[in-house]
Amino acid sequence: MASQATNIAVVGGTDADHAKIDIILKKYEGQKGSLIPILQDTQDLYNYLPRKALEYIAEQTGNPISAIYGVVTFYSQFHLNPRGRNIVRVCQGTACHVRGGKTILETMEKALGVKAGHTTDDARFTLETIACLGACGMAPVMQINGETHGRLTPEIIPEILAKYK
Ligand code: FES
Repeated sequence: MASQATNIAVVGGTDADHAKIDIILKKYEGQKGSLIPILQDTQDLYNYLPRKALEYIAEQTGNPISAIYGVVTFYSQFHLNPRGRNIVRVCQGTACHVRGGKTILETMEKALGVKAGHTTDDARFTLETIACLGACGMAPVMQINGETHGRLTPEIIPEILAKYK
Protein backbone atom coordinates (compact mmCIF):
# COMPACT_ATOMS: atom_id res chain seq x y z
CA MET A 1 0.00 0.00 0.00
CA ALA A 2 2.86 2.36 0.73
CA SER A 3 3.99 2.21 -2.89
CA GLN A 4 0.55 3.30 -4.11
CA ALA A 5 0.66 6.28 -1.78
CA THR A 6 4.08 7.18 -3.18
CA ASN A 7 2.80 6.91 -6.70
CA ILE A 8 -0.07 9.28 -5.94
CA ALA A 9 2.38 11.74 -4.45
CA VAL A 10 4.62 11.88 -7.52
CA VAL A 11 1.87 12.69 -10.03
CA GLY A 12 2.64 15.89 -11.83
CA GLY A 13 4.13 15.21 -15.23
CA THR A 14 7.79 15.28 -14.28
CA ASP A 15 10.59 13.58 -16.17
CA ALA A 16 10.44 10.82 -13.56
CA ASP A 17 6.83 10.15 -14.58
CA HIS A 18 7.86 10.01 -18.21
CA ALA A 19 10.57 7.48 -17.40
CA LYS A 20 7.99 5.20 -15.78
CA ILE A 21 5.57 5.58 -18.68
CA ASP A 22 8.41 4.98 -21.14
CA ILE A 23 8.92 1.54 -19.56
CA ILE A 24 5.24 0.76 -20.17
CA LEU A 25 5.36 2.06 -23.76
CA LYS A 26 8.47 -0.01 -24.45
CA LYS A 27 6.70 -3.14 -23.16
CA TYR A 28 3.97 -2.78 -25.82
CA GLU A 29 6.11 -1.31 -28.59
CA GLY A 30 5.00 -2.47 -32.04
CA GLN A 31 1.95 -4.33 -30.70
CA LYS A 32 -1.38 -3.59 -32.33
CA GLY A 33 -4.30 -2.67 -30.08
CA SER A 34 -1.96 -1.88 -27.22
CA LEU A 35 -3.60 1.38 -26.14
CA ILE A 36 -5.89 -0.26 -23.56
CA PRO A 37 -3.10 -2.30 -21.90
CA ILE A 38 -0.91 0.83 -21.88
CA LEU A 39 -3.68 2.73 -20.12
CA GLN A 40 -4.26 -0.16 -17.70
CA ASP A 41 -0.58 -0.30 -16.75
CA THR A 42 -0.44 3.48 -16.39
CA GLN A 43 -3.48 3.40 -14.12
CA ASP A 44 -1.80 0.69 -12.03
CA LEU A 45 1.13 3.09 -11.66
CA TYR A 46 -0.89 6.04 -10.37
CA ASN A 47 -4.13 4.39 -9.23
CA TYR A 48 -5.85 6.70 -11.76
CA LEU A 49 -5.00 8.32 -15.09
CA PRO A 50 -3.49 11.79 -14.61
CA ARG A 51 -4.08 14.24 -17.46
CA LYS A 52 -0.35 14.80 -17.97
CA ALA A 53 0.22 11.06 -18.31
CA LEU A 54 -2.52 10.84 -20.97
CA GLU A 55 -1.01 13.77 -22.86
CA TYR A 56 2.37 12.07 -22.81
CA ILE A 57 0.90 8.76 -24.03
CA ALA A 58 -0.90 10.61 -26.84
CA GLU A 59 2.33 12.30 -27.87
CA GLN A 60 4.38 9.11 -27.77
CA THR A 61 1.85 6.80 -29.45
CA GLY A 62 0.69 9.29 -32.07
CA ASN A 63 -2.95 8.98 -30.97
CA PRO A 64 -4.96 12.19 -30.75
CA ILE A 65 -5.65 13.10 -27.12
CA SER A 66 -9.38 13.16 -27.98
CA ALA A 67 -9.18 9.50 -29.01
CA ILE A 68 -7.45 8.59 -25.76
CA TYR A 69 -10.09 10.39 -23.71
CA GLY A 70 -12.71 8.60 -25.82
CA VAL A 71 -11.31 5.22 -24.71
CA VAL A 72 -10.84 6.27 -21.09
CA THR A 73 -14.37 7.58 -20.71
CA PHE A 74 -15.90 4.59 -22.53
CA TYR A 75 -14.55 1.94 -20.13
CA SER A 76 -15.66 2.11 -16.51
CA GLN A 77 -12.38 0.48 -15.41
CA PHE A 78 -10.55 3.76 -16.08
CA HIS A 79 -10.54 6.64 -13.61
CA LEU A 80 -9.64 10.24 -14.33
CA ASN A 81 -9.64 11.40 -10.71
CA PRO A 82 -7.29 10.40 -7.90
CA ARG A 83 -8.47 7.42 -5.90
CA GLY A 84 -7.79 6.23 -2.39
CA ARG A 85 -5.13 3.76 -1.33
CA ASN A 86 -7.91 1.30 -0.48
CA ILE A 87 -10.77 0.69 -2.88
CA VAL A 88 -13.99 -0.41 -1.17
CA ARG A 89 -16.79 -1.91 -3.26
CA VAL A 90 -20.04 -2.46 -1.39
CA CYS A 91 -22.34 -4.85 -3.20
CA GLN A 92 -25.81 -3.57 -3.99
CA GLY A 93 -26.90 -6.59 -6.03
CA THR A 94 -30.23 -8.26 -5.35
CA ALA A 95 -28.98 -10.95 -2.93
CA CYS A 96 -27.06 -8.39 -0.90
CA HIS A 97 -29.87 -5.86 -1.08
CA VAL A 98 -32.39 -8.24 0.50
CA ARG A 99 -29.90 -9.07 3.26
CA GLY A 100 -29.15 -5.50 4.29
CA GLY A 101 -26.71 -4.28 1.65
CA LYS A 102 -28.21 -0.80 1.79
CA THR A 103 -27.60 -0.57 5.53
CA ILE A 104 -24.01 -1.69 5.00
CA LEU A 105 -23.52 1.03 2.40
CA GLU A 106 -25.03 3.66 4.71
CA THR A 107 -22.80 2.44 7.54
CA MET A 108 -19.75 2.72 5.29
CA GLU A 109 -20.73 6.20 4.13
CA LYS A 110 -21.08 7.28 7.73
CA ALA A 111 -17.84 5.60 8.85
CA LEU A 112 -15.81 7.12 6.00
CA GLY A 113 -17.62 10.45 5.84
CA VAL A 114 -18.09 10.22 2.06
CA LYS A 115 -20.85 9.17 -0.27
CA ALA A 116 -20.41 6.28 -2.72
CA GLY A 117 -18.28 7.36 -5.68
CA HIS A 118 -16.03 9.55 -3.55
CA THR A 119 -12.64 9.42 -1.87
CA THR A 120 -11.84 10.41 1.70
CA ASP A 121 -9.85 13.63 2.17
CA ASP A 122 -6.85 11.68 3.45
CA ALA A 123 -6.97 9.46 0.32
CA ARG A 124 -7.21 6.39 2.53
CA PHE A 125 -10.43 5.03 1.01
CA THR A 126 -12.47 5.30 -2.16
CA LEU A 127 -16.02 4.06 -1.68
CA GLU A 128 -17.80 2.47 -4.63
CA THR A 129 -20.84 0.28 -5.20
CA ILE A 130 -21.07 -2.75 -7.44
CA ALA A 131 -24.00 -4.78 -8.80
CA CYS A 132 -22.77 -8.27 -7.76
CA LEU A 133 -19.45 -9.55 -6.50
CA GLY A 134 -20.29 -13.16 -7.29
CA ALA A 135 -20.36 -14.12 -3.61
CA CYS A 136 -24.14 -13.99 -3.09
CA GLY A 137 -24.02 -16.91 -0.64
CA MET A 138 -22.10 -14.65 1.76
CA ALA A 139 -24.45 -11.65 1.39
CA PRO A 140 -24.24 -8.88 2.33
CA VAL A 141 -20.77 -8.55 0.86
CA MET A 142 -18.11 -5.94 0.17
CA GLN A 143 -14.61 -6.07 -1.25
CA ILE A 144 -11.64 -4.03 -0.15
CA ASN A 145 -8.71 -4.11 -2.59
CA GLY A 146 -10.15 -7.30 -4.03
CA GLU A 147 -10.45 -9.03 -0.63
CA THR A 148 -14.00 -10.21 0.03
CA HIS A 149 -15.74 -9.62 3.34
CA GLY A 150 -19.08 -11.39 3.72
CA ARG A 151 -21.99 -11.81 6.13
CA LEU A 152 -21.47 -8.19 7.10
CA THR A 153 -23.16 -6.41 9.94
CA PRO A 154 -22.88 -2.69 10.74
CA GLU A 155 -21.15 -3.64 14.00
CA ILE A 156 -18.24 -5.39 12.29
CA ILE A 157 -17.44 -2.52 9.87
CA PRO A 158 -15.04 -0.54 12.15
CA GLU A 159 -13.01 -3.68 12.84
CA ILE A 160 -12.65 -4.40 9.12
CA LEU A 161 -11.76 -0.81 8.21
CA ALA A 162 -9.06 -0.71 10.88
CA LYS A 163 -7.10 -3.32 8.93
CA TYR A 164 -6.62 -0.97 5.97
CA LYS A 165 -4.23 1.94 6.53
S1 FES B 1 -25.61 -9.73 -5.02
FE1 FES B 1 -23.98 -9.24 -3.69
S2 FES B 1 -22.52 -10.76 -4.13
FE2 FES B 1 -24.10 -11.17 -5.51
